[in-house]
Amino acid sequence: MEVIEAILTRRSIRRYTEEPIGEEEMEQLIKAGMAAPSAHNEQPWHFIVIRDRALLEEIPKIHPYAQMLREAAAALAVCGDLEREKNKGLGYWILDCSAAAENILLAAHALGLGACWLGFHPRPERKDALRKLLKLPANVEPLCVIALGHPAEGKGPADRFKADRIHYNVW
Ligand SMILES: Cc1cc2nc3c(=O)[nH]c(=O)nc-3n(C[C@H](O)[C@H](O)[C@H](O)COP(=O)(O)O)c2cc1C
Repeated sequence: MEVIEAILTRRSIRRYTEEPIGEEEMEQLIKAGMAAPSAHNEQPWHFIVIRDRALLEEIPKIHPYAQMLREAAAALAVCGDLEREKNKGLGYWILDCSAAAENILLAAHALGLGACWLGFHPRPERKDALRKLLKLPANVEPLCVIALGHPAEGKGPADRFKADRIHYNVW
């Protein structure tokens, strides 16, 4: 799929078939995440591949809008390593990991998979619960979990183009 087409047709997919996601597809998704730009090229990300059914059932108990994980084939938790940050405390990891997460959503779509970003950052209660569940070390912050599967729903492109949000040279 051509990149502009992928960007313009990507949607959040929350219904999945039972078909599993192969190791090769998973590696391609993670490669796409790791290809993202990052401040100072720090690449502060870590990705946790979640295929364990028990974990996929537990996450919806700590996140009310993550119920689709119960039927997802897998999930990817996108996390940032604070120790890899040069400028501590400025939160560049959030931007870097968000760029990685968007790359993963686009790659999933291009591969014919369905994906949905489930927000954990910046909600402390959700982050703490996920930290415990995934046994994250203290220096690692969870940004989001991406639900993944073969799509069992189709969605057309959302046209969000708004000419009045564009400003030329000055506001
Ligand atoms: C930071 C962030 C957090 C999100 N959290 C959730 C979530 O917890 N559950 C969910 O079902 N969708 C979540 N989404 C997906 C949005 O609801 C979705 O992107 C938005 O409604 C636009 O729809 P689209 O992705 O189909 O274009 C999140 C998206 C972002 C960027």
